[in-house]
Amino acid sequence: MPLVPSKELVQAADAGKYAVGAFNAVNMESAQAIFAAAEQERSPLIIQVTQTTMDYTNPDELVALIKVLADRATIPVALHLDHGRSFDLVMRFLKLGMTSVMIDGSLDEKGKNPRSLEENLAVTKQVVAAAHALGVTVEAELGRLGQIGEQISADDRDHALTDPDEAASFVAETGVDMLAVAIGTTHGLFKGTPVIVHDRLEKINQKVSVPLVMHGGTGVPDEAVTKAVKLGICKVNIDTEIRVAFYNSVHNTISKLEKGYQEADASGEVRKYDIRNILGPAREAMKDAIAAKMRLFGSSGKA
Ligand code: G3H
Ligand code: ZN
Repeated sequence: MPLVPSKELVQAADAGKYAVGAFNAVNMESAQAIFAAAEQERSPLIIQVTQTTMDYTNPDELVALIKVLADRATIPVALHLDHGRSFDLVMRFLKLGMTSVMIDGSLDEKGKNPRSLEENLAVTKQVVAAAHALGVTVEAELGRLGQIGEQISADDRDHALTDPDEAASFVAETGVDMLAVAIGTTHGLFKGTPVIVHDRLEKINQKVSVPLVMHGGTGVPDEAVTKAVKLGICKVNIDTEIRVAFYNSVHNTISKLEKGYQEADASGEVRKYDIRNILGPAREAMKDAIAAKMRLFGSSGKA
């Protein structure tokens, strides 16, 4: 199937009161696992890559692989840039054929320090003008999410949360198609107990006309996710949970292989090494973790 703008998928989710999962791909096995889960669950899909991918591999290569998988897919797929931090970088990924991009103007280009509202507005408007000319969906972010390993203190929490009125004027002024909101989630594993501020989400949803996005989906309790979807979340980003599934599977497989190798050594047999014996089960484990999220978000059977 040809790739679609994610706007189509999140608007259908908004109307159907479910959410579409957005899953990060970093290599062949993770991309294959994401597509396999969507096919199994008959679920619409947003597959996303980040600019940090560029430090690991040439994005052209990973995107080319994803396009081949999308061509063969029988479910609708959007190809999304996650956490684009500058206009230039977003343009580079637009050129690669993204059908959806995020300009994260809430933090500076290094993703370290908050940008001012004015700076966020300016860079977001620039990206919307270019992306919309190509029919590409734009996601932006307003408010401050905890970064990996960071826990926003109770004192700071209120200040970090997205303000409903500011969100409404931000969306009206920029023309973005979906808005990532700060409602208590954090990137990576939570330090301490996650506190999702659902009443804030409800207020934002009452004032903002576009679908809302939850980042930092890993570790959010199932019932908190289900409630957030009912209150207007139409896209949920999941990354760390896929990495954990990969790590645990590789760890188990290597422990088993180690035992086998010791027996082989003891009996004088030659050890047999095969990367596929490690990455194959890891791909399956990632697929199972992703499929479970699709069922939780309610997107299973919606393709
Ligand atoms: O943009 C990606 C996500 O926000 C991933 O968050 O690693 O906590 O699942 P996560
Ligand atoms: Zn994120």
